[in-house]
Amino acid sequence: MVVRFLLLAFLVFGFGLTRRVNSHEESGERSCVSNSEEMHIQADFKPGIITLDGCANDWEDIDGSEFSLRPALDPDEDHEYKDGKMTVKALHDGNNVFFLLQVDGNYVYSKGDIKKCPSVALMFQIGDNATYHNMGGCKEQKGSCTNKTCKGHEVDLMHFVIGNAIPGRLYGGGDNSFGPLVDAYAWNPHCRYLNGMGPSGNHSSGQNNWKGAWWHSSFADKSGFVEEDSPYSKGGEKGTYYFEFARPLRTMDRLQQFTIDWSSKMSVAFWYPVDGKQWVGSGHYTINCDWASLDIACGSVPTDASRSGWDMASAFALLFSVAALCIAIFVSYHVSRPNTVKFAPVENL
Ligand SMILES: *[C@@H]1O[C@H](CO)[C@@H](O)[C@H](O)[C@H]1NC(C)=O
Ligand SMILES: *[C@@H]1O[C@H](CO)[C@@H](O)[C@H](O)[C@H]1NC(C)=O
Ligand SMILES: *[C@@H]1O[C@H](CO)[C@@H](O)[C@H](O)[C@H]1NC(C)=O
Repeated sequence: MVVRFLLLAFLVFGFGLTRRVNSHEESGERSCVSNSEEMHIQADFKPGIITLDGCANDWEDIDGSEFSLRPALDPDEDHEYKDGKMTVKALHDGNNVFFLLQVDGNYVYSKGDIKKCPSVALMFQIGDNATYHNMGGCKEQKGSCTNKTCKGHEVDLMHFVIGNAIPGRLYGGGDNSFGPLVDAYAWNPHCRYLNGMGPSGNHSSGQNNWKGAWWHSSFADKSGFVEEDSPYSKGGEKGTYYFEFARPLRTMDRLQQFTIDWSSKMSVAFWYPVDGKQWVGSGHYTINCDWASLDIACGSVPTDASRSGWDMASAFALLFSVAALCIAIFVSYHVSRPNTVKFAPVENL
């Protein structure tokens, strides 16, 4: 079952990715006008507020970024995802970085048929020369991709297909044995591997560093789903999908590290079975036709106000120590000076 699912997923994605590349080669041109200032995701330091369960209430006070979703192959306004924009929220607690993806969409779910259920993926730039286009953009073919020939083109991938995932339950983590949520890396669409697999010289420990959960707002008054509840809600109900993910900032892998107080690059992909039709691997929407920037903020960046407050405090401290020094000199001068005023013995009074 696991193996079948793995093969299926690779067929799906392999097929989709190959088509994606071919179609780019065929069209020969690709235009992308991207405003990197607008394409920005901020992850502030907010410890202890997020529970990884797919439920988004704990994200209410966190500002997010809104992106229109356009087909990755043809990022034309006319082909935009019709039901709305995707909101991406992020934060970190010093140990983990958390993401929430929120997108309106009628509830569709077809148990076991991953292509008739929505799906999402995250992609992160790891190598300095990794492009958004062609998943890192290494020029090598399958078989000749290694950590030497594709050096600098590494991207980190997280993919969540919900067709076998119960809402509200946690997936991922552990040894990356195949499940609905996988941790992978790539140098280009042909050289894509699950963590721990791939050519010798792979960069990963084989661990699945990601965890995630999903939810749809039409489940409003439900909790604690079991398998028999599938498909969890009536089909076609209006609402919002929520996908929630977390990953340690630092992992055992040689790549795939996030650095606090640093800007990195990422992208988000979304598959939806439009009109109930199965999606194809290449038919995904993305939040931009190039990387979006991800800023992971420091826990305690001193603000200007607190900095000038500090300066004032140091000035006072200096003033006081100078005053204390003056008093000390004055006192010791008086103490050490020979007594000019003679003591009058008591009995002489
Ligand atoms: C990225 O590309 C530049 C120019 O092609 C090259 O000088 C540099 O070494 C590459 N960086 C990495 C990490 O491979
Ligand atoms: C990938 O790297 C890990 C850790 O270095 C290793 O345990 C694993 O066997 C490697 N996989 C392959 C297929 O080389
Ligand atoms: C490439 O992989 C080999 C074998 O795992 C390793 O010894 C080497 O350090 C790696 N090189 C880079 C640049 O990561």
